[in-house]
Amino acid sequence: MITDYSQRLIVQEVSPRDGLQIEPVWVETADKINLINQLSSCGFSRIEAGSFVSPKAIPALRDGEEVFQGIQRHAGVIYVALIPNLKGAQRAIQANADELNLVLSASQSHNQANMRMTREQSLTAFGEVVSLVRGSTVLLNGTVATTFGCPFEGRIEEDVVMRLVDAYLELGVQGVTLADTTGMANPRQVYDLVQRILDRVPTTALTLHFHNTRGLGLSNVLAAYEAGARRFDASLGGLGGCPFAPGASGNICTEDLVNLCTEMGIPTGIDLPHLLALSRTLPLLLGHDMPGQVVKAGRNCDLHPRPSH
Ligand code: COA
Ligand code: ZN
Repeated sequence: MITDYSQRLIVQEVSPRDGLQIEPVWVETADKINLINQLSSCGFSRIEAGSFVSPKAIPALRDGEEVFQGIQRHAGVIYVALIPNLKGAQRAIQANADELNLVLSASQSHNQANMRMTREQSLTAFGEVVSLVRGSTVLLNGTVATTFGCPFEGRIEEDVVMRLVDAYLELGVQGVTLADTTGMANPRQVYDLVQRILDRVPTTALTLHFHNTRGLGLSNVLAAYEAGARRFDASLGGLGGCPFAPGASGNICTEDLVNLCTEMGIPTGIDLPHLLALSRTLPLLLGHDMPGQVVKAGRNCDLHPRPSH
């Protein structure tokens, strides 16, 4: 199949959630709101702005209510909240989240570590969430974490992922995300699974969530795009990681992804210079260097003066 690179790639920015959840420093609520407001003017159509989980599990995001209520909502931007259970859904709806991102793991052991539940218990809780949102405009997305590999169990059978995707579809979610929680995916595996999933889920409803833990993040994006996927999570600066997955590290870096798309002619609608300027503010906010590369190297078009000799 010859890929049509003129088809838009939709980036969902996840730094306010996946990015900040693993940071050891406390980011002030006002700084989180400012980050989300800045991201809202970069051209994203979807931003995962926080999570409503146990504050003991993820202290860094315990101010979800204030964050969601404090942001300036941009028309056309869907503000997503990650939730693990009914209580999270109630809090997120109260805080005006547009979409709830339900999360469970393909591997039983990571679901236990992350959610302290079996997958079956997670699905039962999601059934309660479905009843809660029925009749409202709140959207639901279902994420399958550790889809491409688990730090405790290793390889995950595709059929396990397919069954969980089917369970989400039966619940009536509008979208499904396949997440590579600790960067274990490879492009060949991604291509095959995306092709298989797209028989069940329309392109507009499928998101891929890659971490660059083993340096394969953007290769996996291209493989997924070539297999027909069009929606991808990414995080400013390459921040991110699940605190309950040993060895976790950052998501694919948003500005590196947008740069890749710019260079290949894949439209994203995202303002790269604005994104790079925003990325440059992260070391001051978080006290460390970021894994993103384009912010250090500059874009291809940012040329240097020739030597004078
Ligand atoms: N928001 C806030 N508080 C919550 C909550 C939520 N969504 N869900 C449960 N709680 C509170 C309960 O009210 C209870 O509070 P109490 O001790 O004051 O009575 C406490 O947390 C324990 O509740 P319980 O249902 O027994 O939860 P648990 O300890 O078994 O933990 C989860 C289960 C799912 C709440 C927890 O593991 C969690 O939040 N995991 C998310 C981890 C995460 O975000 N990972 C990264 C993203 S993938
Ligand atoms: Zn993640």
